[in-house]
Amino acid sequence: MKDVFKAVRITDRVWWVGAVDWNIRDFHGYETKRGSTYNAYLVMADRIALIDTVRAPFRDEMMCRIASVVDPQAVDIIVSHHAEMDHSGSLFETAREIRPDVIYASEMGKKTLNELYHGAGDVIAVKDGEKVSLGNCDLAFYETRMLHWPDSMISWLESEKMLFSQDAFGMHLASSGRFDDEIDPAVLEYESATYFANILLPYAPLVGKALDRVGAMGWDLKFIAPDHGPVWRSDLGRILGNYRRWASQEKTRKAVIIYATMWHSTERMARAIGEGLSSAGVPVRVLSMAENHRSDAAFEILEAGALIAGSPTLNNNIFPSMADVLTYLKGLRPKKLIGAAFGSYGWSGESVRQLEDMLKEMKVEVVTPGITAKHVPDPPVLQACYDLGRQVGERLKTTIP
Ligand code: FEO
Repeated sequence: MKDVFKAVRITDRVWWVGAVDWNIRDFHGYETKRGSTYNAYLVMADRIALIDTVRAPFRDEMMCRIASVVDPQAVDIIVSHHAEMDHSGSLFETAREIRPDVIYASEMGKKTLNELYHGAGDVIAVKDGEKVSLGNCDLAFYETRMLHWPDSMISWLESEKMLFSQDAFGMHLASSGRFDDEIDPAVLEYESATYFANILLPYAPLVGKALDRVGAMGWDLKFIAPDHGPVWRSDLGRILGNYRRWASQEKTRKAVIIYATMWHSTERMARAIGEGLSSAGVPVRVLSMAENHRSDAAFEILEAGALIAGSPTLNNNIFPSMADVLTYLKGLRPKKLIGAAFGSYGWSGESVRQLEDMLKEMKVEVVTPGITAKHVPDPPVLQACYDLGRQVGERLKTTIP
């Protein structure tokens, strides 16, 4: 099968030997509309190194790609940059087959792998900044704790000017192209932003520090090789600049309305608020949580300055889809948002207060009292919704240049 599932050459020394998952649509709650890849890399140095492994069901594919370059038994070293199972799921079975001299991980990686696989194999911990000789080149390791697990680390292969960045700079995108210049730039932009919003946003300040550290290393970066999506070789400045911006949680004059509706009353309110925001010159995205996924909402708020939430009252509570999305967004810890709440009700009407409480828990500054509509919003209520949208829009314009 090595003549079917072949390695892809990145440089004379480094090959991509990962797997393409065309079908995955859910990655622990994040909708992966375009599938994903699990990237592994083979460094053909004097001591051959396999950099990361793939999700367990794709192990055969990875082994074929390795075999298309070299007898897998010749691999001397396996590196586990990140213990999450999409990268470690086939690690120990692979190690049992190829019998490397050593498996390297960070100290926390060693601990986590042991907790996940209960002593399935011996792992040697490398220290932050430690350099391992591959004979005719070196691989240097740097911890990136909480980006996005405690064990996460990256490595630098000076001879190829290549950064192995594990999840960072990655995206969930199944494609036949292995490099950034083989993929539509709009797709790269969207999928890398969606990945950041759904995976890295809670740790945005640490991303900024990691970027500072990478900058201070003075590396002449020619390749960034992440564990998902394409290898960056052409437009590194763009992805690095985007990461710098997302890490700083810079906001734009954009508003996002997320809502649920039962009989279209809360929906009408959402649309009126959207009109008010537009009238203030503020771009707005209006997302029904019946038609959109929570990870779409995460993408939309990445650079938004306002989050407005709407829900009808259902059995004295907010609608379940709103509890879902707000719980998810709260965990992503977006910063610097203003917001408001709205919703319809039949008799008890608790939803708007509950939404406001949830927004406040998310540290969203609620800038205007919420609006309720009994049963169906009448023209004065819709006018109030429009005015709320306009007010939020004007506030964004005064606070965001
Ligand atoms: Fe791609 Fe955090 O695993």
